Order: sequence, then C-alpha cells, then structure tokens
Amino acid sequence: MSQDDQKRLAGRAAMRYVEDGMIVGVGTGSTVAHFIDALAERRADIEGAVSSSEQSSRLLKERGIPLLDLNAAGEIPLYVDGADECDGHKCLIKGGGAALTREKIVAAAARKFVCIIDPAKRVDVLGRFPLPVEVIPMARSYVAREIVKRGGQPVWRDGVVTDNGNWILDVHGLRITAPIELERDLNQIAGVVTVGLFAQRPADVVLVGAEEMR
Ligand code: 5RP
Repeated sequence: MSQDDQKRLAGRAAMRYVEDGMIVGVGTGSTVAHFIDALAERRADIEGAVSSSEQSSRLLKERGIPLLDLNAAGEIPLYVDGADECDGHKCLIKGGGAALTREKIVAAAARKFVCIIDPAKRVDVLGRFPLPVEVIPMARSYVAREIVKRGGQPVWRDGVVTDNGNWILDVHGLRITAPIELERDLNQIAGVVTVGLFAQRPADVVLVGAEEMR
C-alpha cells in the first residue's frame, strides 16, 4: 500500500467524528486533502469549516464547503489535521507545510483534535523531522542565535513566506524528550510567532492509516 493510500485511509477514517450540523476545523497538507474530499461528500450535512491555511481554504471552496470565520464560530467541536511526527503521548511536530500558526490557533479553539497520519509519522522521540518555528522576519537571526544556544541547528526555509507574512526556521539536531518544556521555552524568545510543537495542546485522537482500515 502506498503512503498516499495510507493518508487517504486516515483522512477518511476521521469522518466518523463528523456529526450533522457541525462546524469542522480543517488542517493543512496532503493527508488533510483526502479528509476534505471525504468531507465534501457530506457538505450538505455540516454547517461549514474553519480553515487553517490559504491552501485548505482554496480546496474547501473548490469542493463547495462553506468557509466560516473562527471569530464568528467560537469554540469548535472538532479539528482534523495531519502531522510531521507523532510520539506515544500524541505530542506532535507540525509545520512542514508552513501553516503551523493558524493550525495551532484552530487546534486551541477545538474541543476535540483528531490527528490523521500515515505510519511513517510515528516516532518514539520527536525531533528527527526538523522542528519548524515561525518568526517575525526582522527577528530571524536573533531567534536563530537563541536556538543555537539551546543546542539546535536552525536553517532558514529560504523563499517561504507564511500566510501571516512571516518566515520559517527549521531546527535540526533536536532530540525532544521534554516537548512541553521545550515548547514553552521557545515560545518565550522574542520574535517567535509559533513553535511547531503541539505538546501543551496535543492531539486527543490519532488515526494511523493502515491496511486493516480498508
Ligand atoms: C502543515 C502541517 C501538515 O499537517 C504536516 O506537514 C503533514 O503534512 P502531510 O499530511 O502532507 O504529510 O503541519 O503545516
């Protein structure tokens, strides 16, 4: 089974959490694209979707799913999103698609966060995937120096501008054994907008796309 088939199975499995009349928070990425395809089949049953990125907003619009503003929607019952890595405590690394800030906001506003992944995303310890950190552009070098002091090797994702007009540093060389503490620490560096660690608010449910889901 290909990795894309595994992503499709995970995306479709998340539909069991979608209830009639719901507002659904929608993440970003290729796994989420499969979820959006499945959600489109039930678009008449839901109130609409709160999107976490311009990319997902485009897909949702193309599939006729009403887009809702988070400020009007308030707390949302369900958020479905992918991840770049997931540990045994459902803590995640996210932001491979540079959408981490809006993803973290929608996840925070959601009662239930269902994470959809293929098996390659499962790890014992987070950090093999470089940790994305969104920064205010003028703070890039300062934040990078602070990260080096903490043992990371930041690499500027050159040419990428986030939906919020900011830049991304991908931090290599971390072995993240205390994700909640690291998230809190990196969040305190001036100029950091969002750390791609989802540990203070981990996923509630992780669905791993696999053959037996067929
Ligand atoms: C985007 C993300 C994605 O959820 C993450 O990169 C996983 O993507 P994919 O489903 O394409 O493997 O965090 O910012």
